[in-house]
Amino acid sequence: MSDNKTDAKPAPFGTVFGPHLPVARFDGNTWSAAEVVPTESLTFGVATHSLHYGSECFEGMKAHRQEDGSIRDFRADVNIQRLRKSAEALCLPVPSTELLEEMVTMAIEANVAAVPDPPGSLYLRPNILGTDLNIGAASRPSKSAVLYVLTSPVGAYLPPHMLRVKVDSDTPRTTPQFGRVKCGSNYAMALGVIQKAAAEFNADQVLFAPGGYIEETGAANFMLLEEGHIITAPLSDSFLHGVTRDSLLQLARSLDWKVEERPVNVSELQQWCARPNAEAALAGTAAILGGVGTIIIGGEDHLVGAGETGPATKTLRNMLTEIQVGKREFSFQ
Ligand SMILES: Cc1ncc(COP(=O)(O)O)c(C=O)c1O
Repeated sequence: MSDNKTDAKPAPFGTVFGPHLPVARFDGNTWSAAEVVPTESLTFGVATHSLHYGSECFEGMKAHRQEDGSIRDFRADVNIQRLRKSAEALCLPVPSTELLEEMVTMAIEANVAAVPDPPGSLYLRPNILGTDLNIGAASRPSKSAVLYVLTSPVGAYLPPHMLRVKVDSDTPRTTPQFGRVKCGSNYAMALGVIQKAAAEFNADQVLFAPGGYIEETGAANFMLLEEGHIITAPLSDSFLHGVTRDSLLQLARSLDWKVEERPVNVSELQQWCARPNAEAALAGTAAILGGVGTIIIGGEDHLVGAGETGPATKTLRNMLTEIQVGKREFSFQ
């Protein structure tokens, strides 16, 4: 897609929205054709099923302006399949791949003037909500639903400092069978634990490690790195299968790095921190790879290596950034 771009300025992450919103509705039998409406025109009744019973799921991905001025989404096909799995897990109607692809394209085309230049991008937030107006339907799925793709022009998002991450081995982020579902309630459930870690340890995030094995943080996957080597937890139902995680592992494999997807327990994590070249990072769409400087285990700070963003983190982050803006070719599987 090319465009007539205006001087759109990157905005604080997630606080400014594209003006045009593709919307489709499910009436209990079929999805309507998608149409583009003004973003602020979509409203919901106070009895809406998703507001009471959490029948809601979403996705988060980005589209990037390429060197030739066109806009390209980054691996939206993977996010689309993850959204369909989330909808199925929550007993919501599952939109077809074709409808979702069409609406992602519509969202980019309709908001093309709002796409910032790199390092900014257009964040895309497809959402599916159960819309039955029925507060008596606590134990029934919503028959009706709405699907829309909200957009948000965003700047490069890099955490302002090396992150402090507190390990919590007592509390899972969410119920184990729903960890890989991207629904709002999963985030709400983790908030209390994250708030407490912030208040008591000045932690930016919590690394959930149920049963003593590290999984992910409240909004990102977790990786241990050093030059030529990356370790992360193996996929399971209990945490989100990040598109960034998968992309980084594919890049690391293409560089012939040692790539380990295996369980890591908290004592191994502590030993890892003590290695002089150790790195740790949070992987997700927003920041790609955000360096973790300190890991708090059992109330004690452990500096990760030198406590700075190391070469392995920088290499993978730069590679992925270049691929996203079309400066480097890579064919993801
Ligand atoms: C809980 C959680 N884990 C992991 C991720 C990383 O996923 P992705 O790389 O697809 O953005 C996210 C971000 O969406 C997240 O919210």
